[in-house]
Amino acid sequence: MLKIALSKGRIFKETLPLLKQAGIEPLDDPETSRKLILDTNRDDVKLVIIRASDVPTYVEYGAADMGVAGKDVLMEYGGQELYELVDLKIACCKLMVAGPVDMPELSRRLRVASKYARVAKQYYASLGQQVEVIKLYGSMELAPLVGLADVIVDVVDTGNTLRANGLEPKEKIADISSRLVVNKASMKMKHQVVKPLLDQIAKAVG
Ligand code: ATP
Ligand code: PRP
Repeated sequence: MLKIALSKGRIFKETLPLLKQAGIEPLDDPETSRKLILDTNRDDVKLVIIRASDVPTYVEYGAADMGVAGKDVLMEYGGQELYELVDLKIACCKLMVAGPVDMPELSRRLRVASKYARVAKQYYASLGQQVEVIKLYGSMELAPLVGLADVIVDVVDTGNTLRANGLEPKEKIADISSRLVVNKASMKMKHQVVKPLLDQIAKAVG
């Protein structure tokens, strides 16, 4: 049995055509079904539906053999026990520092709010800048508007969310796309099933 971890929404929608080209089609739609384990047209393949940020954990611990996760999520997770094998070139965006269009000069440490607290710390450490990082779990754009933080670190695509909140991108930290990650033990033990699937998905990406 092969379990593939996916998150609902963007990643599920954009992974579906790649899985289809690899001969895997779910029998249920996670947007309408309450099921967390979806059967597919293949008896030996199931899809496990979890939060985007939980995908690396399931794959690292072998609760899923493989999964699809954004590079942003993988950078924040920082695990060692999974292979990042295919750049699926889906859910593309940029991880950026963003802040108010008119930023005042600060006489104290910069306060940075993000759900990517680890990445934010690493980024400012790499610049040799001492900052205060505040961990959030969503709606980061609100933080500078209400004085919780000076800037945020978040993913940006069109920039519409920033603009709608009077913010603008300031610095790019990384280009982001989603990656196919594979559990190290599954790669060895289930090689006969995993390898052809990896090849088919890589081919579907083009
Ligand atoms: P969680 O539920 O764990 O908080 P999430 O709500 O961020 O995760 P999604 O919004 O489905 O989950 O995003 C999944 C991935 O898609 C992100 O990790 C990122 O790599 C990418 N992504 C996020 N926002 C965008 C966007 N606006 N455009 C393109 N890709 C995006
Ligand atoms: C993501 C992200 C940003 C937004 C950026 O949110 O958290 O807020 O996309 O995209 P944009 O630059 O095109 O506006 P999403 O729409 O996925 O909602 P979420 O907060 O539920 O993740």
